[in-house]
Amino acid sequence: MSLPAHGGTLIQLVDETYETAHLAKEIALDATALSDLELIAVGAYSPLTGFLKRADYEAVVEGMRLADGTVWSIPITLPVTEEQAAELAIGEEVRLTHTGVTYGVLKVEDIYTPDKEKEAALVYKTTELAHPGVKKMIERPNVYIGGSIVLVKRVPKADFAEFRLDPAETRAKFAELGWKTVVGFQTRNPVHRAHEYIQKSALEIVDGLFLNPLVGETKSDDIPADVRMESYQVLLENYYPKSRVFLAVFPAAMRYAGPREAIFHAMVRKNFGCTHFIVGRDHAGVGSYYGTYEAQEIFSNFTPEEIGIATLFFEHSFYCNKCEAMASHKTCPHTAEDHVILSGTKVRELLRNGELPPSTFSRKEVVEVLIRGMKQNEVKA
Ligand code: ADX
Repeated sequence: MSLPAHGGTLIQLVDETYETAHLAKEIALDATALSDLELIAVGAYSPLTGFLKRADYEAVVEGMRLADGTVWSIPITLPVTEEQAAELAIGEEVRLTHTGVTYGVLKVEDIYTPDKEKEAALVYKTTELAHPGVKKMIERPNVYIGGSIVLVKRVPKADFAEFRLDPAETRAKFAELGWKTVVGFQTRNPVHRAHEYIQKSALEIVDGLFLNPLVGETKSDDIPADVRMESYQVLLENYYPKSRVFLAVFPAAMRYAGPREAIFHAMVRKNFGCTHFIVGRDHAGVGSYYGTYEAQEIFSNFTPEEIGIATLFFEHSFYCNKCEAMASHKTCPHTAEDHVILSGTKVRELLRNGELPPSTFSRKEVVEVLIRGMKQNEVKA
């Protein structure tokens, strides 16, 4: 028997026979809304069956729960302009399009104007536009449309086709592999030694590792998904036992909402069939908006039953020259001068200059892919 989805049922709202020809009105989706539409439809966001209506939206923003009490920490919303909203009527069906193609149908059940300052303050813990998640949320249109959806056409698997699996498919895969316990790992970065250390530490106590990098929209100075995907594959090929790791992408946009996003990331991985989820240092954080372990502490607002996936918390990890091993403050008695810790900015600077970060920070095969990828992207830019 497989693990129940969040809320009890794995939502399935894909119907490619659904008639849309008679629907005159359309809402054009941005990349984030398109990925949200698909993720709702395939059950990755179970128990959501559509974009949030006002009661759910307010309950999520204010209390990290849907109106019925189910834990949900990030508002999944469909923003439209005031002009567009004025043309919509409650109860009607509209097509959801992207670049002129109809991907979904939405039943308009609610039209409301959110308090975005409040959303920023409560979800992102800041109203500063310097925060990339806040900036994006503020820049999106100002009226939200709530209602249930149907996905009428699968989004073409342009990139990483073989790594795009629905929750039903990953669940089947884990069962086929005979894994009873699976730890999910979220990442928007290359897998460096610290990531590898916490993944493998977790793998010591579960059957399999689900490496599930986010490949939706990220901020412009994050390493592009195509380069990262190549780096994950080369790492798995060289350093991970094939029978213990499964790689698939998570096509959502990054929100950079730190603690709130950690809960969201955990719920989604539960829906993909994981029994465990890793939360390390400053999960889904950006700049210094969140405390190092805030994304772990936030889980104490809920009971383990409400969360329904076991969280594995890890301390800030690093290579220690004296221990001659990966370690954390929990396991290493030495001082900072023995610890190999490089900031993301420092690593990007080294890579841009074609310099290799030490192998105690990142595997040489990974670094080679990153340097090549950075060069190619500079050429493209
Ligand atoms: S995130 O935005 O997707 O969280 P990242 O890809 O860097 O960013 O992190 C993936 C996971 O690894 C997160 O759970 C994060 O907390 C954890 N992590 C990243 N670096 C470290 C580290 N040095 N020590 C411990 N945990 C880490």
